[in-house]
Amino acid sequence: MPEGIGVAVIGAGMAGKAHASAYRTAPTLFKPTLPPVRLVSIGDINPEFGSAAARRFGYERTDSSWQAIAEADDIDVVSVVIANSLHREAVDGLLAAGKHVLCEKPLSDNLDDSRAMAATAAASSAIARVGFTFRRTPGIAYIRELIQSGVLGKVLHFSGRYWTDYASDPQAPMSWRYQGAAGSGALSDVGSHLSYIAEFLSGSTVSVQGGQLSTTIGSRPKPLGAVMGHDHAEVSDEYADVENDDYAAFSAEFEHGVGALEVSRVAAGHANSLNFEVFCENGAARFDQRRPAEIELFLNEGPSSRNGYRQVVLGPEHPYLSGGLAMDAPSTGFGQNEAFAYQARSFLDEVAGVDAAEALPVCASFDEGVHNMEMLAAVAESARADGKKVSL
Ligand SMILES: NC(=O)c1ccc[n+]([C@@H]2O[C@H](COP(=O)([O-])OP(=O)(O)OC[C@H]3O[C@@H](n4cnc5c(N)ncnc54)[C@H](O)[C@@H]3O)[C@@H](O)[C@H]2O)c1
Repeated sequence: MPEGIGVAVIGAGMAGKAHASAYRTAPTLFKPTLPPVRLVSIGDINPEFGSAAARRFGYERTDSSWQAIAEADDIDVVSVVIANSLHREAVDGLLAAGKHVLCEKPLSDNLDDSRAMAATAAASSAIARVGFTFRRTPGIAYIRELIQSGVLGKVLHFSGRYWTDYASDPQAPMSWRYQGAAGSGALSDVGSHLSYIAEFLSGSTVSVQGGQLSTTIGSRPKPLGAVMGHDHAEVSDEYADVENDDYAAFSAEFEHGVGALEVSRVAAGHANSLNFEVFCENGAARFDQRRPAEIELFLNEGPSSRNGYRQVVLGPEHPYLSGGLAMDAPSTGFGQNEAFAYQARSFLDEVAGVDAAEALPVCASFDEGVHNMEMLAAVAESARADGKKVSL
């Protein structure tokens, strides 16, 4: 057996490339405490995508099936970054082969499969985690600290939206994202992130109500070739029905406070707008994903004529950044790609059993992935019943 940790990524699409790059960067973050990380294989059924990513990110080879990766004895750790409906088969097979698995969110496209995956993970001695990437985003982590330390105090009201525009053009090609039951569209794709963040700050969901799931563009042209991520590939003049939601909204009662969440994939001009505002006992905070290492903070202090939101730019003193970034000087920036690298580092630390001295939180468990799916399923149930309240 070669020494160190052998890594593979299954899926060389939009997010697969982020995982491939993240494993390359992960050992360079913080102190050099990890054993050598070997970039072994990129697995994709599309050989062109697989070999291009392997060359670009310096992986030794490509494989065209997850089975080949499961059987390989030079691979220890695998990211599963393929369509949600394909997660279960690959994850179950990889865990059965003893691989440590980091599966992309949402855990699956349906609740039954996600529960079965969590049962497989519980019975396995391998580590199984879900990629809720925003868990280590500095601005979000900082707001959580301000809530928990009492500076902001308990959450009273969370208002969040995750607007994207990848489906706003009716000519955007049909892909796996548009297929599946109601709730497996925007709600599952970006709502999984937003609901995870809402609970990260406000505690577990008690109930949801006012669920609405809407398809606004009913059919889409079939692509002439393979489609990666949100690419506008060439299309044919044949159309297929969009099966799931372009837009979803609901309100929720959390352990602490209440909230309203809205997600969309047809919000023209908002390619990737994750914004929220959280109102607490002692003030409020605002977050915008386009500036993930800063927040706006309002504290109930002083006369209202001189009080207002202030901008707080997080520097290298933030525990997740300190000693992490190659140049850890103030305002050197942190973006969504860094969040994948931090996630990969946390997963490799856990697999290697090294003490994560920098206190990066471990990746979410499959049970947390199931809980997230239960919340989304409750929203779909509420939407089917004209917005009725559904308890969790
Ligand atoms: N955490 C995040 O911020 C984030 C962002 C985007 C996507 N995602 C998640 O990542 C996953 C993939 O999304 P994407 O946008 O990268 O999709 P994508 O369509 O861009 O890529 C999927 C890739 O999987 C390949 N593929 C299909 N079937 C396969 C199989 N059986 N074996 C191996 N490869 C196969 C395709 O050829 C394609 O290259 C989804 O679960 C999605 O929710 C997460």
